[in-house]
Amino acid sequence: MAIIAPSLLAASFGSFKEEIVSAVDGGADWLHLDVMDGSFVPPITFGANIVECCRSVSPKIFRDVHLMIDSPEKHIDSFVSAGADLITVHQEATKHLHRLLGYIRSTGVKAGVAINPGTTAAAIRDVIELADLVLVMTVNPGWGGQKFIPTTLSKIREIHGWIKSGNLSTIIEVDGGITSETAPLCYEAGASAFVAGTSVFGSKDRKEAITKLRASITDKKS
Ligand code: DX5
Ligand code: ZN
Repeated sequence: MAIIAPSLLAASFGSFKEEIVSAVDGGADWLHLDVMDGSFVPPITFGANIVECCRSVSPKIFRDVHLMIDSPEKHIDSFVSAGADLITVHQEATKHLHRLLGYIRSTGVKAGVAINPGTTAAAIRDVIELADLVLVMTVNPGWGGQKFIPTTLSKIREIHGWIKSGNLSTIIEVDGGITSETAPLCYEAGASAFVAGTSVFGSKDRKEAITKLRASITDKKS
């Protein structure tokens, strides 16, 4: 089953609560929260307080926290306390990835590992069994509204092959430039979770946008 995870990065922060409700009522499976520190990526977005805000607005929605920050190990506890259900860290941002993924899991939260378009799949080969999710960035992280990078598809296939051959339950998430045109390509390659910022919050009708995205994947399957 496909997981649709609207990214609040593309939402209007002036009406944050209404934006959350529109995505949840529109059929979002998860809410994707992009945390940026101005170092790992140039922009700064928000911290754990916004995750807490999501929890108070919509306690049941799954909070998918994407940390685009250096040394994420320093901040895991605060995101756990704020109500993250999944915390994804970048392979490029930490020195002790294996230990960090194990630590995230030990807190009772699911652990994800992300790789940039310029990072090979091999960089996470030895930690995949510690990850509940692999996030394949389909744009360079930092901004919404960028164009999907097609060369990431072969990486999704490669990781999907490892998951199948290892009989693992790890899921592959894609993030960046995901639309009803690019989502089916990622789905065919092995992705099952789809982050969508602009294609959901850039549309007036969020329910229609989420339904269209989901249908593009379902259509491809049949
Ligand atoms: C980019 C973020 C994405 C971003 C995607 O660094 O990780 O989650 O919100 O935005 P769109 O869907 O507009 O490419
Ligand atoms: Zn993201």
